[in-house]
Amino acid sequence: MEQFIIRGGNPLAGEVEISGAKNAALGILAASVMTEDTVLITNLPDVRDINVMLEAMTEIGVKVERITRHDVMITSSRISDVSIDYEFIKKIRASYYLLGALLGRFKKAEVPLPGGCDIGSRPIDLHLKGFKALGATVNIRNGSICAEADQLRGCHIYLDTVSVGATINIMMAASMAEGRTIIENCAREPHVVDVANFLNSMGANIRGAGTDVIRIRGVEKLHSTEYSIIPDQIEAGTFMFAAAVTRGDVMVRNVIPKHLEATSAKLIEIGCQVEEFDSAVRVAATGRLTGTNVKTLPYPGYPTDMQPQIGVALSLATGTSIVTESIFENRFKYLDELARMGGIAKVEGNTAIITGVEGFTGARVSAPDLRAGAALVIAGLAAEGITIVDDIRYIQRGYEAFDEKLRSLGAEIRLIDSVREAQKFNFRVV
Ligand code: EPZ
Repeated sequence: MEQFIIRGGNPLAGEVEISGAKNAALGILAASVMTEDTVLITNLPDVRDINVMLEAMTEIGVKVERITRHDVMITSSRISDVSIDYEFIKKIRASYYLLGALLGRFKKAEVPLPGGCDIGSRPIDLHLKGFKALGATVNIRNGSICAEADQLRGCHIYLDTVSVGATINIMMAASMAEGRTIIENCAREPHVVDVANFLNSMGANIRGAGTDVIRIRGVEKLHSTEYSIIPDQIEAGTFMFAAAVTRGDVMVRNVIPKHLEATSAKLIEIGCQVEEFDSAVRVAATGRLTGTNVKTLPYPGYPTDMQPQIGVALSLATGTSIVTESIFENRFKYLDELARMGGIAKVEGNTAIITGVEGFTGARVSAPDLRAGAALVIAGLAAEGITIVDDIRYIQRGYEAFDEKLRSLGAEIRLIDSVREAQKFNFRVV
């Protein structure tokens, strides 16, 4: 099983280039099957979740031509099936975006019901509520969601909870429904806006993405387009925290600073210098960070996907900090792993009370999920001695060339497939 092995203590310095946004790309790839024309999508991140989504699309007859590592041509003129295989939904929940896309175009779709995951139960009741409101019959049969309609008709939908997935899924189906749809209490994340912009570039009529009310006028057909995915603000934020925790000085390039406002504000609050440029941010830290409190919220609040990263930073900061996770019910597992490195935290419900320590010592830890895994790597970069992070397949789902990018900033990190191999890199294993 592959692992990362890290020798901590080097302040990160230099420049790093951010890849395309995984969570925008997953919605956009699904939406690309809504036209029989060929679509060119560029700046895709080369990460496992994207490659699994492309496999799921190929499986139903979509033609996927890789132009480069980050650019693909998609042609969905010969879709042979509107039923997605369980193996794909098991690997990535976001294959459920194909439900809204196929229902929108073919008025029929079948996708296995995604189970829970490492960070929570993650129901999709709001997605199904939206499809039903558009006139689809939705049944759960043999573990799959079967949705179909003679015709989808525009309607007025109110989302009980702000949900990125439900907003994107319903928006896709509604973009080819008859008439007008209004979705209230929408998610406002940058990747929701990116999917809406992509659909509009194919001829959809979607207004208001990025606000809490999205208005859609359905169209009969969508057409070809060329589209470039926005930069990944979560990957960018992860590198920003890596610079902060190692007391480094890093220029994070290919970002949209506006998307990073909540993250930048917190980094400044805990004592970092953050400088914004047109398409880059520079993060530097010299001394020990200062504790603070943070609560995760839907965009533009502080992102839940950046919660483990700030949790690691606060574990090394002065004083006691409080982290409240308001989106998911099980996103503090990394704190148990961090305790093995010397971290001190107490979790009560959806709140973690963190007592800052002077430093971590290296240890063997396991990535409990994607963002927590990246946070544990950041902890290893700051720790004294050697850290080995197991289960890095989680990290590879959402971070392209994570170890290479960190090495380019001066980190001593290697991907190994056995602890024995560690010796090859002259790492004294703990
Ligand atoms: C997306 O998940 C992201 N995944 C997550 O990123 C991210 O953490 C999350 O949005 C919040 O920003 C992708 O975009 C592929 P939600 P999603 O629906 O859409 C509840 C990562 O690390 N809810 O906004 O599943 C839900 O339980 C991943 O890249 C319902 O109750 O999140 C949660 O409490 C992790 N019913 C809240 O809403 C529903 O039908 C927000 O979830 C849907 C959601």
